Amino acid sequence: MKHNQALHDFPHGKNQNQSLLVQKSPKLVLVIAFSSLVFLTIFIPLCYPSISYSSLLFQSISKPPPNSDDYNHDHKFVYDHTALPSSSSSTNECDLFSGEWVPNPKAPYYTNKTCWAIHEHQNCMKYGRPDSEYMKWRWKPDGCELPIFNPAQFLELVRGKSLAFVGDSVGRNQMQSLICLLSRVEYPIDVSYTPDEHFKRWRYTTYNFTMATLWTPHLVKGRESDPNGPTHTGLFSLYLDEFDEEWTTQVEEFDYIIISAGHWFYRPLVFYENGKIVGCHYCLLDNVTDLGMYYGYRKAFRTAFKAINSLKNYKGITYLRTFAPSHFENGLWNEGGNCVRTKPFRSNETHLEGPNLELYMTQLEEFRTAEKEGRERGLKFRLLDTTQAMLLRPDGHPSRYGHWPHENVTLYNDCVHWCLPGPIDNWNDFLLEMMKNERLRSAEEEKNLYSNDRKLLVK
Ligand SMILES: *[C@@H]1O[C@H](CO)[C@@H](O)[C@H](O)[C@H]1NC(C)=O
Ligand SMILES: *[C@@H]1O[C@H](CO)[C@@H](O)[C@H](O)[C@H]1NC(C)=O
Ligand SMILES: *[C@@H]1O[C@H](CO)[C@@H](O)[C@H](O)[C@H]1NC(C)=O
Ligand SMILES: *[C@@H]1O[C@H](CO)[C@@H](O)[C@H](O)[C@H]1NC(C)=O
Ligand SMILES: *[C@@H]1O[C@H](CO)[C@@H](O)[C@H](O)[C@H]1NC(C)=O
Repeated sequence: MKHNQALHDFPHGKNQNQSLLVQKSPKLVLVIAFSSLVFLTIFIPLCYPSISYSSLLFQSISKPPPNSDDYNHDHKFVYDHTALPSSSSSTNECDLFSGEWVPNPKAPYYTNKTCWAIHEHQNCMKYGRPDSEYMKWRWKPDGCELPIFNPAQFLELVRGKSLAFVGDSVGRNQMQSLICLLSRVEYPIDVSYTPDEHFKRWRYTTYNFTMATLWTPHLVKGRESDPNGPTHTGLFSLYLDEFDEEWTTQVEEFDYIIISAGHWFYRPLVFYENGKIVGCHYCLLDNVTDLGMYYGYRKAFRTAFKAINSLKNYKGITYLRTFAPSHFENGLWNEGGNCVRTKPFRSNETHLEGPNLELYMTQLEEFRTAEKEGRERGLKFRLLDTTQAMLLRPDGHPSRYGHWPHENVTLYNDCVHWCLPGPIDNWNDFLLEMMKNERLRSAEEEKNLYSNDRKLLVK
C-alpha cells in the first residue's frame, strides 16, 4: 500500500524519465537544446541573476507593461534593463522572491514529534537523515525582510475563509507544512467528504477556516489510458482544452486557491484538443507528432486559468505557486542520481536553465495573460514565486531518507519533494506576507481611486 502510494506520488513515472527517453530521440534533444540555447543567450545575460523574473512581472502588474511584445511565444525574451526601477528599498517595492538563504538558528518551528501531519515520505528525521542543518535557514529577500511565519497572525487573517491547494503531491507537501506551522496554535479536524486521500478537507474550528487539497496533477481533464504504455511507465491522455471538473466544480467556494503543476508533465502524454489527438510527449507512436511537454504544460495552464476566469461565483485570490526544481545529481533518478548536499547554494553559484527555466517561463507567460483577463473580471491573480528560492535548496529533499533503506520504493532517492520541517516551510512565510500585503494593496487601491476622483472634481 505504501509502495503504491509512493509510486502514485512520484511524478516522473515508473521506469522512465525524460532524459532516458531523450537518449532514444536525438532529434528532440537537438530541438530542446537549440531552443534553450537561443533562449538562454538572449535572456540570461540581461536578467539573471541580478533581477528575478517575478520583478519583471511585477512591473507589468503595477504599471503599464513597457512593451507588451517583451514576452512572445517564440521565447525571444527581450527586456530593456534600464526600464526597471533602480532600487527596491521600500517594502512595497521589494521583490520578496529574489534573495539568499541565511542561517536561522531558531528553526525549525516544529518537529515530527509535535506535528502529526508530516507525510511518511517527507518525514526525513524518522528515516534517519543524519544532518539537520537543512532546517536552519530562512529566506532573506534582497531589499527587505521576510518575517518568519506567525501562526496566530495567519489564522486571524483567514478567519471565516477557505484555502485550496490545487495540484499534485508537491502542493500537498506545502499544505502539510502549513498544518505543521499552524499546529502551535491549533490542529484542524478532518472534514473530508470522501475517503479519497487526494481530496482532503481540514477545518480549524476556532477560526472557522477550511483548508483543502484538490488533486489534479495535470490541471486539465486526463486519464491514464495505458498503465504500461510505450515505455512500461504509463501513458496519460490529456484533454488540453477540457476542464478537470474534479477541481473546477469545487473552487468557487474558496477564498484563496494555490495552483501548481510540473513534474507530472515529464511522463509520456497524449494530447487531445477538440476531442482529437493533436500530438504527444514521448508517446512513441509513429503516427502522432511529438510536440514536447512544454506544449502540454502551456495549454494545461491556459485551460486551468480559463476555468478560473469563467467561474461565475468565484471571487477568490488565485496564487500561482511556480515550479520547484528537483535536484538529481550524478545520474538520473533511476540511475543512481541523488541529492546529497547539506547546504543551500548562494544565488551566484547556480542559475535557472534548461527545463526548469522553460517550465517556469511557460507558467509566467500564461499567468500574465490570465492575470490580465482576471483583472477585467475583478479577479486577483498573484505570483507565489518559489522557483528561485527552491533552485537554491538542493539540500532540502528527502533523498534516501523518505523510507527505510530495505524498502523497495520507486523513487529511492527523492530529490523532488521536500523534507518537513525544511525549506518548503518558507512557502508559507511568502504566503502570509503576500496575504498581509494584499490588505495594504487593497487599501492603496482604494486611496488611489479616491484621489483620482478628487482630481476630477478639482478640474
Ligand atoms: C521522529 O524522528 C525520530 C528521530 O529524530 C524518530 O526516532 C521517531 O520515530 C520519529 N517519530 C515520528 C512520529 O515520526
Ligand atoms: C464560517 O465561514 C463561512 C464562510 O466560509 C460562513 O458562511 C459561516 O457563516 C461561518 N460560520 C460561523 C459560525 O462563523
Ligand atoms: C495511430 O495508430 C494507432 C494504431 O496504429 C491508432 O490506434 C490510432 O488511432 C492512430 N492515431 C491517429 C491520430 O491517427
Ligand atoms: C558568491 O558571493 C559570495 C558573497 O558575496 C562570495 O564570497 C563568493 O565567492 C561568490 N561565489 C562565486 C562562485 O562567485
Ligand atoms: C522492487 O519492485 C519492483 C516492482 O514492484 C520489482 O520489479 C523489483 O524486482 C523489486 N526489487 C527488489 C530488490 O525487491
